[in-house]
Amino acid sequence: MTRFYLDGQLYNAQEGESVLDTLIRHGQQVNYSCKKGVCKTCLVQHIEGEINIGAQRGLTSGLKARHYICACQAVVSDELKLKSILPHDLFTPAVLEQKQYLNQSIVRIALKVEQGFIHQPGQYINLRRFDGVTRSYSLTNSPSDGLLELHVRRKYNGQFSDWLYHQANIGEKLLVQGPMGASSYDSQCQDNKLIVIAFGSGLGVAVSIVREALSHRHQGEIHLYVGGREMDDLYLHAELLQMMLEHRHFFYHACITGHHDVMPSGRRVMLGDPFNEAVKAHKFDRQQHLFLCGEPSLVNQSRKMAFLNGFPIERVHTLSFEYKDLRTRPRDL
Ligand code: FES
Repeated sequence: MTRFYLDGQLYNAQEGESVLDTLIRHGQQVNYSCKKGVCKTCLVQHIEGEINIGAQRGLTSGLKARHYICACQAVVSDELKLKSILPHDLFTPAVLEQKQYLNQSIVRIALKVEQGFIHQPGQYINLRRFDGVTRSYSLTNSPSDGLLELHVRRKYNGQFSDWLYHQANIGEKLLVQGPMGASSYDSQCQDNKLIVIAFGSGLGVAVSIVREALSHRHQGEIHLYVGGREMDDLYLHAELLQMMLEHRHFFYHACITGHHDVMPSGRRVMLGDPFNEAVKAHKFDRQQHLFLCGEPSLVNQSRKMAFLNGFPIERVHTLSFEYKDLRTRPRDL
């Protein structure tokens, strides 16, 4: 049995138990989601005692400087002293400034953040509403726009996404944590071929990478494969066809993955899975970068397939995050 303190209160951890799991077992109200050190919702402040290196893995230098650690990755050691973090230590006020329906299930949200907020394509934020419910979303716009843009897919029974889609109004006050995650486009790779694959709601972030590459005058070919079950899922179809006309080295490949016997006529789409279509069309080599965006299960599966197809794994960039609820109380209560 190992002991640690949070806000002066003593907790006994079992062998190998993380700080987060110990708190949950004691019935504490704690924020957490992924338990993998990804979402950064379980942060606590380290005051005293030994911490393992993994407890700060993936944190920005600003968070490390403030001695924050992920409770889910922190191994308990004797005399470890920790402090809870108040929401205003991590979150910045934001206001819903624009709202636009992109199709039957996806809404574009633009937020104005009160403090300066610098982000890169491929990064994500945690968004919190009035009652503490929090979700992670990828940022989909260029850092120079002055707003934070998200494409939010309304999920069946999705407590937060459904509220954003139907009820949240212009002027709604929210809190933003981040940006988090790594930037993904590297202008050092200007001459390389980029293959960007978007699954479902990953379209917004995939397009932000393409735009970033084009704004850096990327010289190599850029291929964007977008998968959707229906034509309605390809909600940027016309815009991307237009972008292809404007940039001779940008190629947009629209893929319908649902069961259709005939191809929608005159729409410039193909039937098939976007990853498989990319594998068929490109011989993977070390001069390419592969970006996989969207639902974690499809992204992870495609990452494995890319490796099996000989694609160098260090050139595969995954833009996906934990979609689980970011809870303000333990899951098992
Ligand atoms: S980082 Fe700890 S729960 Fe996600």
